[in-house]
Amino acid sequence: MTIPLRIGLAGLGTVGAGVAKILANQADVIGKRAGGSVVVTAVCARSKSKDRGVDLSAFEWFDDPVALATSDAIDVFVELVGGSEGPANDAVTAALKAGKHVVTANKALVALHGATLAPLAEQAGVALNYEAAVAGGIPVIKAIREGLAGNEISRVSGILNGTCNYILTEMEATGRAFDDVLADAQKLGYAEADPSFDVGGIDAAHKLAILASLAFGVTLDFDGLYVEGIEAISAADIDFAKELGYKIRLLGIAARHGAGIEQRVHPVLVPVTSPLAAVTSVVNAVAIEGSAVGSVVLEGPGAGEGPTASAVVGDIIDIARGLVVAPFGILSKDLQPSVTTPIAERVGSYYLRINATDRAGSMAEITKALAEASVSIERIIQSSEPVDAGRLPVVIITHDTQEKAIENALRLLNEHDDVLDQPMMIRVERD
Ligand code: HSE
Repeated sequence: MTIPLRIGLAGLGTVGAGVAKILANQADVIGKRAGGSVVVTAVCARSKSKDRGVDLSAFEWFDDPVALATSDAIDVFVELVGGSEGPANDAVTAALKAGKHVVTANKALVALHGATLAPLAEQAGVALNYEAAVAGGIPVIKAIREGLAGNEISRVSGILNGTCNYILTEMEATGRAFDDVLADAQKLGYAEADPSFDVGGIDAAHKLAILASLAFGVTLDFDGLYVEGIEAISAADIDFAKELGYKIRLLGIAARHGAGIEQRVHPVLVPVTSPLAAVTSVVNAVAIEGSAVGSVVLEGPGAGEGPTASAVVGDIIDIARGLVVAPFGILSKDLQPSVTTPIAERVGSYYLRINATDRAGSMAEITKALAEASVSIERIIQSSEPVDAGRLPVVIITHDTQEKAIENALRLLNEHDDVLDQPMMIRVERD
């Protein structure tokens, strides 16, 4: 690798400014670890005049990320523009075609276009590094791609979105409203430019698709992944979960299931005694089950300036050290086609909250509908606190059952006059 290693930084938002600060403030130690100096030579952002707390005067300024990506002034193109389409995709594609190494924090880009970008990197013999795209500051990509490369992996799961974990655990701890806590997460720089990507589970799904491809050696399958967000989770669900001995978290789960791989992102109830219940605020946690190693759990800050910039700088230092590996751990041509198991095949327990008429016999009708769908009840509670006049919540935890049976039960419940609203269903994960 040529030294000094010249960095072109596209995007000077929270993370871009953080990367520039680390490279400047830690220049000595980074230079020693990299085997020579690593310097930002050129930058590109929307506004030249905005104060980002970083001195940009020494850097060549580009208005066009594609021009920066292909410039002779850089060796590594760092893409922190965001978005799966448009400038980010154009610039990364151009950089790889021009034989530049690429470092990106863009999970949407990698999840949706990794199948096109990885072969370009492989053909050019350059790096396409994206540690910052998954779980912020946790080095989970390197853990799976390098440290655990000798294992057959059977499951990767965890808390992959800092904003959702922050919202759920703040609501749990303080009883504050969803929108209020989301506004905090935005101010703290955790949320995506479009926060519906966070609360809708899309951001976690981008990350899970990437982890599944790496862990199982399969092609990316974002479109086949099951996704559900946390928008419908109410304070009442958090309270009922607590009463039943659970906490609510947004999980991503990818696991071998028969001939395929289940890939799903949705809220879950986890037992209060589970390690995931102890993961609060913006922290992410990823559990990996490997054939030789057993279970490895990595935990750390999943979003924000410092953690994300830390991962970007780690990727840059790898390039300076000459470490260039196939982006998904094996050559793109050797990835197996992904066969994603439908969510209807999930077997497990379910939490149901049913707002029912406050009249004699309504509970009997609810349990009858569940019996008709062959869903067996493990626990049932009826709140004495009405949601409003004449409307009482009935909360049920089922025994393990097939998701198809729950879908059937929900259909029967919805048809019933005593069931006043769409019942709330949350999956329970006890492992
Ligand atoms: N919006 C993301 C999160 C940022 O909250 O986890 C890190 O990818």
